[in-house]
Amino acid sequence: MRIPENKIEEIRNLANIVDVISTYVHLKKQGKTYAGLCPFHNDKNPSLKVSEEKQIYKCFVCNAGGNVFNFLMQYKSISFIEAVQEVAEHLGVKLELEKGSSSIVNSELEELYDVNVTAAKYFSNNLLNSRQGEIAREYFKKRNIKTQTQKMFGLGYAFSEWEHFLHYAEEKNVNLAKAMQLGLIDKRNDGSYYDKYRGRIIFPIFSPNGRIIGFGGRILNNAEKAAKYLNSPESPVYLKRKTLYGLFHSKDEIRKLNKAILVEGYMDLIALFQNGVKNVVASSGTSLTEEQIKLLSRFTKNIVVIYDADSAGQHAAMRSIELLLKEDFEVRIVALPEGEDPDSFINQYGKKDFDELVKQADNFLEYQMRIYQQEGKLDSPESQAEVVRELVKSVALIEDELKRNLMIKSISKKFDLREVLVESELDKLLNKKDSQKKRYAGQNPEAPIPHEAEKIKTITRIEAKFEEEIIRLLFEGVEEIQDLIFDNIMPDDLHNPDYRKLSEIALENYRNDIVSPSGIIEKIEDDNLRNIALSLTLNDISISAKHGEEITSAEVTKKNALRYASDVIKKFRITKINEEIENNKIKIKNSETDDNVLELLRLNKELEEEKKAIREENILINEIE
Ligand code: UTP
Ligand code: MN
Repeated sequence: MRIPENKIEEIRNLANIVDVISTYVHLKKQGKTYAGLCPFHNDKNPSLKVSEEKQIYKCFVCNAGGNVFNFLMQYKSISFIEAVQEVAEHLGVKLELEKGSSSIVNSELEELYDVNVTAAKYFSNNLLNSRQGEIAREYFKKRNIKTQTQKMFGLGYAFSEWEHFLHYAEEKNVNLAKAMQLGLIDKRNDGSYYDKYRGRIIFPIFSPNGRIIGFGGRILNNAEKAAKYLNSPESPVYLKRKTLYGLFHSKDEIRKLNKAILVEGYMDLIALFQNGVKNVVASSGTSLTEEQIKLLSRFTKNIVVIYDADSAGQHAAMRSIELLLKEDFEVRIVALPEGEDPDSFINQYGKKDFDELVKQADNFLEYQMRIYQQEGKLDSPESQAEVVRELVKSVALIEDELKRNLMIKSISKKFDLREVLVESELDKLLNKKDSQKKRYAGQNPEAPIPHEAEKIKTITRIEAKFEEEIIRLLFEGVEEIQDLIFDNIMPDDLHNPDYRKLSEIALENYRNDIVSPSGIIEKIEDDNLRNIALSLTLNDISISAKHGEEITSAEVTKKNALRYASDVIKKFRITKINEEIENNKIKIKNSETDDNVLELLRLNKELEEEKKAIREENILINEIE
């Protein structure tokens, strides 16, 4: 399924982002833009900024942002196509979907989804309606899973025969190669196929939008030798690192309560859900990944982690804490009584006790300290020092300075240490982190290899400002400004690798006649780049406040925007030329042959002339005005 590009553009141009966001968030006009409480984090002050003029939004706290489609994708956890469809419906625009060669990738995915749906229906029917399914129904009864819950999560059963699903799939004209790619069947040496899932309870795995992307299959009898769970392999529709089991069912509740509970197992999630704890997701066997955390952060930044009390569980918890702190999560940890998991706990003690447990969850410092205590590490002064260092290491991962300070206070208090001591430990770690960051920045592979002379000279502050200004102008949404810029400046002229990339994207869109900020921003795939573009575009103040004397125009209204743009471009070109002249001068100084010097002097003379010409240029402006 594919929507033609020009149709998307039509819808984007017709839509009004303020109308759309207003349906979900109360917006108030503030000067040129609208502001509201950001729905993507626990917002106390209106941090969401929406520009009607530019048709984009951004949260200045959690960095969510984009155009009207991005908002819906993020708010409703739907795909791009679904977002376009929704806006189209809203506007009453009719969409004709293209089916054809250009949509190969999408239709291939669709085919995989279709195979999964066929299999899921088959498994579910086995469980709910077949005679042979009795054994599975008995199993769920024993484990307190109601029929209604089985239906809700699409649970199923795979018969113990070797080719039952295979025959069903053949009957339904399922593409067997696809079924094999999805791990539903496998091939014997003689080329014949057989079922992978046999005699197992089936848990379909859903994407956040409710599409079936894979399956987990649990053996009925723990005593059997086979692996307890058989999970679908990674496939184009099932990216394990990006999947959280249960999120499709729990995302609304997570958003509503602004808190998620993380458990390990399929059964844990389902048992909690059935008992009314509905803000829960499961990592399902894999250790928590950064991608999973990013996915979850679309719904909340508050998480309660529940792991088994055993040492493997503790180890996993410690690792997850680190990752979560890095992504700016508020982390709490619940330790269950020995031998229990969330499923067994809630079945034994009920929701009230479970809620109580969650309410009393430790913050990560308390949790880590308790674990160290259990390991006997608080007994000697030497190991205590080590513990403090470990704790401070976790604190150093937190970006928020205020939070960090509170944590430091609490560590000092717990260990009866002077705060400055703990602080200096933190400072050591932070400095290390800083210099690491700087090193990485310096190693940016996108950065051009500097010329001999340029190595000496770093980009000046004013040049950096001009570059920023040029990017901002590219996102003004005025075609004439883009004409002007791309007539004079090419992406390669920019030093800043982010700006260079952004101008490349803008240029590519410009060539395709897309000049609106909301249109260009849609094409930026990198989160960081998109953020930069959104910040520059929505930050009107920067124009007057930051540029001081170098750029004379203070207020940029549409009317004088062009004059302003041409001014910036001229000055940018002049700085570039100055840079080149300086470089040549250095070369002249270092040059050994007369020939070289003469050539360089001639070049500089030319450059000076060019500068003069630029100053006298009256680019187009008069004609336009
Ligand atoms: P558990 O062994 O704790 O199982 O594994 P469980 O979820 O409590 O299942 P029951 O209650 O015994 O039925 C926790 C999770 O780890 C993954 C599964 O997602 C499971 O739910 N896992 C476990 C696997 O993927 N493969 C395995 O072989 C075992
Ligand atoms: Mn269990």
